[in-house]
Amino acid sequence: MSTPSDPHAPSKSNPYASELLVNRLMTEGSDKETRHFELSLKGSELEYLPGDSLGVLPTNCEEVVEDLLAAVGLTGSEQVQVGEDDITLKDALINRLACTVLSKIQIKKFNEFAQSDKLNDLLQIANKDSLVDYMWGRELIDLFLEFPHSGISAQDFVGLLRPMPPRLYSIASSLSAHPEEVHLTVAVVNYVGHGRERKGVCSSYLAERVGDSIPCYLHPNKNFKLPEDSSTPIIMVGPGTGIAPFRAFIEERKATGASGKNWLFFGDRSQKTDYLYGDEWESYQKDGILNELGLAWSRDQNEKVYVQHKMIEKGYQLWSWLNDGAVFYVCGDASRMAKDVDQALRTIAQEEGAMNEEDAGSWVKALQKERRYLKDVY
Ligand SMILES: Cc1cc2nc3c(=O)[nH]c(=O)nc-3n(C[C@H](O)[C@H](O)[C@H](O)COP(=O)(O)OP(=O)(O)OC[C@H]3O[C@@H](n4cnc5c(N)ncnc54)[C@H](O)[C@@H]3O)c2cc1C
Ligand SMILES: NC(=O)c1ccc[n+]([C@@H]2O[C@H](COP(=O)([O-])OP(=O)(O)OC[C@H]3O[C@@H](n4cnc5c(N)ncnc54)[C@H](OP(=O)(O)O)[C@@H]3O)[C@@H](O)[C@H]2O)c1
Repeated sequence: MSTPSDPHAPSKSNPYASELLVNRLMTEGSDKETRHFELSLKGSELEYLPGDSLGVLPTNCEEVVEDLLAAVGLTGSEQVQVGEDDITLKDALINRLACTVLSKIQIKKFNEFAQSDKLNDLLQIANKDSLVDYMWGRELIDLFLEFPHSGISAQDFVGLLRPMPPRLYSIASSLSAHPEEVHLTVAVVNYVGHGRERKGVCSSYLAERVGDSIPCYLHPNKNFKLPEDSSTPIIMVGPGTGIAPFRAFIEERKATGASGKNWLFFGDRSQKTDYLYGDEWESYQKDGILNELGLAWSRDQNEKVYVQHKMIEKGYQLWSWLNDGAVFYVCGDASRMAKDVDQALRTIAQEEGAMNEEDAGSWVKALQKERRYLKDVY
């Protein structure tokens, strides 16, 4: 068996070409597109554990590259040097380089050619908030559309671009339940920014594939694992795509006959259209594998209902599970959700454990130190 520590195992620089078996829309009728993917690991001998992630190496969309080339004023047939290779610019843009998401360093390099006073001002340290506002919803093409006379050569253009970074996805399956397969739960990034339709490179790359092979590799995460003692209760909080690793956790707990109790909090926009893996949770509940299920639908009523509200509603019981040694997991959005869930834990400690704010903070820290509060947030 090859594992990620095996030097011959597929890796970021030597990805495995995995056959895409299933690409299924899970949110029919929703204004949000979340997809379930199943990839084959047959013959790769790759093994993962619940809690690990999969790295995917996407290519850029040909249409996006054509639009960019037109904006830059190049044809794509120019020969350029990328690393050791002499290839056409179009090949480089499709297969090797990141050419959409903007960075400050890229704007700086671009302005060495464009010499724009506006960009120069935005790049001043004092204007960092204005730069963030400017970059929001803009991509590289927008620089060339706004400052069209940069007169850049094909090789200098390549010099503005960094190698295409892989994207990580939390694995949504257990090998015990799906031998030689890896499943993912992906929110497809689609938005309109400054009048142009934008799409996320990797999520739309995956969404648009059927029967293709996907270059990927395993990215282990030793800090997000099921408890070694399978009788330990677990509490999982995973709204949106944060649900992914918990599908893997429950599959594994079922397959191994783990006796520990399982509690899942899931939330998304609407129960009718965004209940990811809903039939599976209902059936696990019936079978007594999922002992508690807290659901938060944020757009099914006027006021927002989020997973942390459901946690607080069940504060007494949650406190009792934690006192019985439960491990608390959270996965999904790092910017707001994970912070609010953290605050909810503190509130529960204050309300149910009769602690003051400071003691509740120390209690949460201790939980983390004991590795009973684990996060997979992005
Ligand atoms: C450990 C880990 C696990 C992850 N697991 C999952 C998972 O299970 N499922 C999942 O779907 N994702 C997951 N992600 C996120 C995933 O890796 C990608 O970041 C995500 O799919 C977006 O990549 P992309 O290539 O499609 O978009 P990109 O091409 O990288 O574009 C994203 C960029 O678009 C811009 N943007 C996005 N939306 C808007 C908007 N509305 N307005 C303006 N600008 C916007 C932002 O600049 C953003 O950075 C995980 C990330 C990590 C680090
Ligand atoms: N159209 C798009 O391009 C699009 C759509 C969805 C997601 N995304 C992106 O895809 C990524 C992953 O999406 P996702 O499915 O994991 O999550 P998500 O769509 O961002 O959110 C999932 C659920 O969490 C709720 N939520 C929002 N703020 C929260 C908070 N502070 N605390 C708790 N719950 C909160 C959302 O409610 P509300 O949304 O009702 O507030 C929704 O019900 C995100 O980075 C997001 O920006 C893009």
